[in-house]
Amino acid sequence: MARLLLPPILLVAGLLVVSSAGVAEAAWWSGWRWDCLFPGRGRGHGHGQGYRQSQSHSKVASIVTEAMYNSFFLHKDDAACPAHGFYNYTSFIEAAEMFPEFCADGDLATRKREAAAFMAQISHETTGGWATAPDGPFAWGLCFKEERNPPSDYCDKTNTEWPCVQNKSYHGRGPIQLSWNYNYGPAGKALGFDGLRNPEVVAGDPVVAFKTALWFWMTPRAPKPSCHDVMAGHYQPSYADLAANRTAGFGLTTNIINGGIECGPNGNVAPVNDRIGFFRRYCGMLGVDVGPNLDCADQKPY
Ligand SMILES: *[C@@H]1O[C@H](CO)[C@@H](O)[C@H](O)[C@H]1NC(C)=O
Ligand SMILES: *[C@@H]1O[C@H](CO)[C@@H](O)[C@H](O)[C@H]1NC(C)=O
Ligand SMILES: *[C@@H]1O[C@H](CO)[C@@H](O)[C@H](O)[C@H]1NC(C)=O
Repeated sequence: MARLLLPPILLVAGLLVVSSAGVAEAAWWSGWRWDCLFPGRGRGHGHGQGYRQSQSHSKVASIVTEAMYNSFFLHKDDAACPAHGFYNYTSFIEAAEMFPEFCADGDLATRKREAAAFMAQISHETTGGWATAPDGPFAWGLCFKEERNPPSDYCDKTNTEWPCVQNKSYHGRGPIQLSWNYNYGPAGKALGFDGLRNPEVVAGDPVVAFKTALWFWMTPRAPKPSCHDVMAGHYQPSYADLAANRTAGFGLTTNIINGGIECGPNGNVAPVNDRIGFFRRYCGMLGVDVGPNLDCADQKPY
């Protein structure tokens, strides 16, 4: 919250106290087995065979053109942004080629809304914006590529499936601020890099960085659906989901990402509103309505 009121240089220390929690709080991940994440996929393979390979270009490029992308992230290449020069459009599109279903399902409005939702969530996770920032607080997505002053190395030693490597830090990196050994391990395995031995690649290669964010977006982790399924209209709430008010909409993607901290009656509404602010701006620019259930105040976290 405080970071919204701070200029970029000062917000560095405060950044990601909340946003790294987005993925960092993900204790729910721990204990999920690889074969549960990618049913029917063998172990030990390299590049994303779990995903259908694209015969044509990713659908997202026709919705988020290079000009649109650059107007979303007006300040990402400012000298004040530590990620300046990193998150270029070519890298985004190259990463998206690995996930052909991203922004490819449903009618045009649905696909635009999914694009806006993804861009909004990664913007919140990497924002350099503050209340009186030039062009407003929501023009500062993709300002950071790496968590500054991480409070720990995000090693969950109790996780033996994805054991930490000595002297490696699993703090937030990339557009979704991937965190923890139990996320770096499976992300690397799905995407073809050694997430445990080489977590640094996520902040070193923009294509890998975007792939980790898209992988997070596209991958369901029971009992959570994927953010993609929610925004693309594939989500089928269970009775428990209905009792918990977990119905489709942008707010449910926030619940999936960081519900434990931000959703429900005691949730922290400042980050929720920051996410919504980005979403509204991007939907407006793409010319699509924001849809229902923007926040998650009435939703029970997972
Ligand atoms: C985008 O980033 C990639 C990877 O660092 C680099 O190879 C490429 O030249 C960059 N493209 C532009 C247009 O800056
Ligand atoms: C880890 O860091 C310590 C302290 O810098 C160093 O002594 C040790 O050799 C390192 N271990 C590995 C495996 O790199
Ligand atoms: C669901 O939402 C309603 C208000 O719309 C609220 O009264 C109820 O407590 C919510 N249920 C849960 C489980 O949070």
